[in-house]
Amino acid sequence: MTGYYLEITYVIAVVLFMMGLKKLGHPETARKGNMQAGIGMGIAIVATLLLYKNGDGSGIGNYEWIAGGILIGCIIGLLTAKKVAMTAMPQMVSLFNGMGGACSAFIGLIEFGPAMNGEVLTYTTVLACLVVGTLTFSGSMIAFAKLNGNLNKDIRLPYYNILNTLIMITLVGLTACLLMHQITDARMWIYILFGLSLVYGILFVIPIGGADMPVVISLLNSLSGIAAALAGFIYGNNVMIIGGILVGASGTILTIAMCEGMNRPLSNVIFGAFGAGGASGGATGADGASKTVKEASASDVAVMMNYSQSVVMVPGYGLAVAQAQHIMAEFQQMLETNGVEVKYAIHPVAGRMPGHMNVLLAEANVEYDKLVEMDDINPKFPTTDVVLIVGANDVVNPAANTDPQSPIYGMPILEVEQASKIIIVKRSMNTGYAGIENELFFNDKTSMLFGDAKKVITDLVGELKNM
Ligand code: TAP
Repeated sequence: MTGYYLEITYVIAVVLFMMGLKKLGHPETARKGNMQAGIGMGIAIVATLLLYKNGDGSGIGNYEWIAGGILIGCIIGLLTAKKVAMTAMPQMVSLFNGMGGACSAFIGLIEFGPAMNGEVLTYTTVLACLVVGTLTFSGSMIAFAKLNGNLNKDIRLPYYNILNTLIMITLVGLTACLLMHQITDARMWIYILFGLSLVYGILFVIPIGGADMPVVISLLNSLSGIAAALAGFIYGNNVMIIGGILVGASGTILTIAMCEGMNRPLSNVIFGAFGAGGASGGATGADGASKTVKEASASDVAVMMNYSQSVVMVPGYGLAVAQAQHIMAEFQQMLETNGVEVKYAIHPVAGRMPGHMNVLLAEANVEYDKLVEMDDINPKFPTTDVVLIVGANDVVNPAANTDPQSPIYGMPILEVEQASKIIIVKRSMNTGYAGIENELFFNDKTSMLFGDAKKVITDLVGELKNM
């Protein structure tokens, strides 16, 4: 039962959520948007605690427990958010998704019982909340372990697709049986449903690997929103329903955008084996023959770039690891002062989270009009003099276009090999996230500039200053 004032505050909170979400669409306004949505959530929580009334007119109660929970949650959230490195953000998002799923799972477990009053809709919502929440929790925990390096293998059980489908059918069948018989007192069944959902979440994520993890994370994010919305339906709480739907919808849009970025249908991500079969290896080509790479020095590269007309910089995960964005921006400005036209090529899944490169470069105050999306920059590579690839690997791997056997075949890439000269800055011949070799390193036009990105670009800046 919610009162008039509570509903008004919920409307304010929802407006703040939506304004925040809109602002998250651009790096310039994203920070403000995040803050606005956070304030909206704060208002919704405080208003619920103070204004919510049960059917008998009593308030929520148990304030000491709630305050204790909020305090512990705030401390853990604050400390981890302050400490987490930008490159570890996907793990953190996975943990958040998992915690959201766990809340919905507990709500499903607690609310299952005679209080459902035999209402089919309530019964269905409670079961759906339990199943979706639980599999989101276990799936997100596996995603966390994979991203955090605790679980390095993409484990593929024999006939895992059949196994997963069987478990899913059992889950749906059991839910339908419980629903038809309106069982509310045999808690054993609900624990079986809980256990099966846990196992399904694990088996669903465990074989997925390589570069498909971003898609899985946004899918789990969307599921956590759906689970929260279902929990909102159980309590008739509008702000929970709308908040959950917003997360579910934006997670779904992101999942679709990610799939488009990888040029893979969602079914292929879930049932395929992306990244599982990737062969890695330093200097051995696909035909098994040994190959050599050309190395360049910082002074050669600085001279070449300084006397070019057009340069495209390709940032990747290594730029974020090295925190080289500031020095890269300085290098860009120096080149521009010397008359070189410089742009940044942004691949949708470069780095380790959506918009990673945009955020990184915004941090270094690079103007947004210098950041060019993949589809717009690709036609410009044939007229580009030098491409400087800094800590990027998979997103420039031509195997995605040329090798049908490659696990990344079909993923759109930055077609840098069309440029006149290619310089690659990385520390070694190691592979990128997908664990596959990159033929680009052996291209005649390519020169490798080995070293940590920050150190190498600092050297390039030094060379320019000495010219
Ligand atoms: P990657 O393919 O992961 O390659 C990064 C390269 O950076 C590595 O080959 C590494 O080589 C180099 N590197 C690491 N630390 C460095 C440092 N300190 N200095 C210089 N180089 C360094 O990166 P990418 O091209 O950005 O592609 C992203 C990959 O991650 C894709 O496969 C994508 O699907 C996946 N992924 C993306 C996301 C999102 S949403 N963006 C989320 C999860 C996964 P060395 O070790 O030799 O230096």
